[in-house]
Amino acid sequence: MSDATAPESSNLPNLHVDRYEAAWIRVSLLMMTIFLAAVITASVAWGIQVPGAYQRIKPAEIMAEGSPFANPGLRELAPGKYEAYIRAATWSFTPEEIRVPAGASITFYITSVDVQHGFKVMETNLNMMILPGQVSTLKATFDKPGTYNMICHEYCGAASPTIGHHTMYGRIIVEETETAAR
Ligand code: CUA
Repeated sequence: MSDATAPESSNLPNLHVDRYEAAWIRVSLLMMTIFLAAVITASVAWGIQVPGAYQRIKPAEIMAEGSPFANPGLRELAPGKYEAYIRAATWSFTPEEIRVPAGASITFYITSVDVQHGFKVMETNLNMMILPGQVSTLKATFDKPGTYNMICHEYCGAASPTIGHHTMYGRIIVEETETAAR
């Protein structure tokens, strides 16, 4: 944009943009370009995922016959590849413990039977909200043997005081494998 005034005959409005304002517009555009590139790089090249609402589920149907949440737990889909269905309720995760060999990749499917909960696995970037009526999903690979606590990080409870929120946790135990590499 220039400061030159439009000819008298022109019907275009005389759009005056201050020099500093123009500079800030350029800076903003540059920043947006950098952020967009960062988001695309993170998702495509680094595989960073945003927790997804995988599907909707009626809380009344969670325990219905055929629902994977009626009998939650770990299922091995292929060697080293697992899916874990977890039910969150005030104030526990079912199952409370998951055991996998090192190098295992787990896709988590979690829903809540009552109120809003959180799901965070320590020492990983697994972190999502668990909402009633929705199945949340994230995938992670556990290369290092050890115990990873999965904790609820949403202050949960149907009525106040929410006395049990801090007791809502479980663990993922990653066991050493005899064969180092898979
Ligand atoms: Cu569930 Cu806090």
